[in-house]
Amino acid sequence: MTPYYQDDLITLYLGSCLTITEWTSADVLITDPPYGVGGNLTTTTGTHEWDKTLDVRDQALAMFLSGGARGDELERPYAMFASPRRLDGAVPYRGLPLVWDKGDSVGMGDTRFPWRPNYELIYVSGPGWEGRRTSSVLRVPLSSKAATQEGHPTPKPIGLMRMLIEKAPPGVIADPFAGTGSTLLAAKQLGRRAIGVELDPTYAAHAVSRLAQDALDLGI
Ligand SMILES: C[S@@+](CC[C@H](N)C(=O)[O-])C[C@H]1O[C@@H](n2cnc3c(N)ncnc32)[C@H](O)[C@@H]1O
Repeated sequence: MTPYYQDDLITLYLGSCLTITEWTSADVLITDPPYGVGGNLTTTTGTHEWDKTLDVRDQALAMFLSGGARGDELERPYAMFASPRRLDGAVPYRGLPLVWDKGDSVGMGDTRFPWRPNYELIYVSGPGWEGRRTSSVLRVPLSSKAATQEGHPTPKPIGLMRMLIEKAPPGVIADPFAGTGSTLLAAKQLGRRAIGVELDPTYAAHAVSRLAQDALDLGI
C-alpha cells in the first residue's frame, strides 16, 4: 500500500486500519480510538459516524495483539484512550490505567449528575514502559476551543502524547486512529518512528499539514 505521507520518521496511510495492516508490526501501540459515544458527540464539525461503535477499536486492538511472535498477546505493549463511560470488559488488558485530567474548562457529560467528566482514561498495558516514576494523573489542560481550532471533535494535546511516548518501550509506534496526527507529531518531535492510519481524508490532510509545519518549526 502506498503511504499517503512519508518522511524520515513518520508514515501515514489513508484508509481503514482494519484493511491496511502495515501498522500491526509496530513495536508499541499508542492510540486514541473511537469511544462508542457517537450519539453524544455533538460538535461544530458535524455528525461522527465513526464514533458510534466500539467494534472497530476492539478489532484493531485484536489485530495488534495477535501480530506478535511472542505467544502471549498481553506481552505486546499499548496505551489506549477510552471513555470512562464505556469501559468494556472485552478489552484484553494487563497494566495500569492513567487518568488524563483535562482541566476545568471542558466536560459536559450527563447533566443529571453534579460532576462533569473532565477526565479520560488511558489504559497502559504490557511490558517495557520506562522512565522516571511520576503521577498516574496526567494534568494537561484542554482548551474548550481545541476542537474548533484543530477541526476535529476529539483532538489530543501534543504535550499529553509526548508524556506517553517519553515512557514508551523502544521501537516503532503505531497509531491506527491517527485523526489530526497528534501521536505522529509528538513522536516526530521526540525523534521516534511512527506509523499511522486515518480513515477521514480531511483529518489526514490536516495531520499532514501539521507534520509539515512542525518540520519547518523544528528546522528539519
Ligand atoms: C478519537 S479520534 C483520534 C483523534 C486524534 N488523537 C487527534 O488528536 O486528532 C479517532 C479517529 O479514528 C478515525 N477512524 C475511525 N475508524 C477508523 C478506521 N477504521 N481506520 C482508521 N481510522 C479510523 C476517525 O476518523 C477519527 O479521526
